[in-house]
Amino acid sequence: MNKEELFINPLAEGSRASKPIEPCCLVIFGVTGDLTARKLMPALYNLAKEGQLPLHFTCVGFARRDKNDEIFRNEMKEAVIKHSRTKPLDEKLWENFASKLFYHKSSFDDAEGYKSLNKRLSEMDSTHNTGGNRIYYLATQPSSFTTIIEKLSESKLIYPYEENQSPWSRVIIEKPFGHDLQSAESLQTEITKHLNEKQIYRIDHYLGKEAVQNLLVFRFSNLIFEAIWNQKYIDHVQITVSEDIGIGTRGRFWEETGLLRDMIQNHLIQLLSLIAMEPPVSLDADAIRNEKVKVLEALRPISPEEIDQKVIRGQYTDGFVNGEQAQGYRSEENVDNESSRETFVALEMAIDNWRWAGVPFYLRSGKRLPKKTTEIAIVFEHVPNILFLQNQKKYEQNVLSIRIQPNEGIAFNMNCKVPGIASPIQPVKMDFKYGNYFGLTPPEAYERLICDSILGDSTLFTRGDEVLASWKYIDPILQHWEKNPKEAPATYKAGTWGPVEAEKLLNRSARSWRMI
Ligand code: BG6
Repeated sequence: MNKEELFINPLAEGSRASKPIEPCCLVIFGVTGDLTARKLMPALYNLAKEGQLPLHFTCVGFARRDKNDEIFRNEMKEAVIKHSRTKPLDEKLWENFASKLFYHKSSFDDAEGYKSLNKRLSEMDSTHNTGGNRIYYLATQPSSFTTIIEKLSESKLIYPYEENQSPWSRVIIEKPFGHDLQSAESLQTEITKHLNEKQIYRIDHYLGKEAVQNLLVFRFSNLIFEAIWNQKYIDHVQITVSEDIGIGTRGRFWEETGLLRDMIQNHLIQLLSLIAMEPPVSLDADAIRNEKVKVLEALRPISPEEIDQKVIRGQYTDGFVNGEQAQGYRSEENVDNESSRETFVALEMAIDNWRWAGVPFYLRSGKRLPKKTTEIAIVFEHVPNILFLQNQKKYEQNVLSIRIQPNEGIAFNMNCKVPGIASPIQPVKMDFKYGNYFGLTPPEAYERLICDSILGDSTLFTRGDEVLASWKYIDPILQHWEKNPKEAPATYKAGTWGPVEAEKLLNRSARSWRMI
């Protein structure tokens, strides 16, 4: 596979080849933050390296701090050296790339700052042939989203939307999109006063991960899986997103957010919708997102009476992770020492449609678990207990496990006869590993997503109704917890797989979490 093929998004709208990469200018708001240094700048550098940026391209960093183009370029160089997936830095390439980076100092609410930005961008259209096309990346605190969009609109930096327009303007919005249903709805109302939905690119970086993109290809290009992808053959589904890190320096953020908002509302629910959706009528972005929304709308709401039983929240205490001592959540920096904020959630979800009636979806995610891994496991029904039942023990169920990260791949567990006369039956595993097979490091999620936003392909971005449908499901749980603030989450030692209550959630129906 050559480099160009590597960047072909199999879910792209229409044919990628038919979409030329148009010139543009990318403006990053909040450019002095962590996200730019760790993800965005390394992604842009690697896109430049792969020849995936437009020939005529500039990137302007917009932030409050006092600095000039040169200081900004030097800082970005350090960031790329530290965080790029490809090493070492290609000096020659960097020089060329850095000549397209600029810094624009302004606060987010200063009309003058936008006026001068407009002037600067117009000059770049002449000096760098950027063609008037604009992408605004909001990598700021969510509280600044509306102000920035309003100001962009007032200074005519956002163009009124028209089909196939040229030049065009788009806005990329980082997560979280809202803090609860109400705030997400009002954010949506505010931004759509200035932007058409087609101009809005809401990021959920999990959708840019290579193995996540493969989910639809895997499901809808292989006959045998699609045929058994329903309640007749599937017993239940498990989605695990575990991290070994704690909340680090993000104590203040975490106290306000918690794991349900940070991970479940977006990343895990997005994975669920891709696993559960019906085949779309085409690969058009809206055709795919229509099917995802239908899944979210079919989620059975959890009633307040059921919440404590079906949604387990946990908080880590002192322990050991990867052989190193880790302090408990309440001792982390900027965390209340009586905090009841959750760092772990496991929940049982139901989808009320024909395909999934009676199939529980178990989701779990947490910080300070034994390792970093993301896996989706499809656990199939038992065979009838007629032929191979020994000592009243059922044989293991077939499991299809899709590893999203690390070691991207797909494994299938099945039962086999052990060679010999006694012939016991034993589960064995067929394992496909992307890395071994294709011999390539997949691009980082942000590379794919930035590239798609330049191409105007919104397939891998979440639509407004999707985000709201997901909040609609999550909101009653948040409200229930807020009404009962004294009920502290169950605790688990750092370095373990969450509180025992999470295990009991599955044990009730004679199931258990997979050992990953
Ligand atoms: C982010 C969350 O969206 O995803 C973080 O805010 C989390 O808390 C991160 O650590 C995990 O992303 P990844 O790509 O490292 O799995």
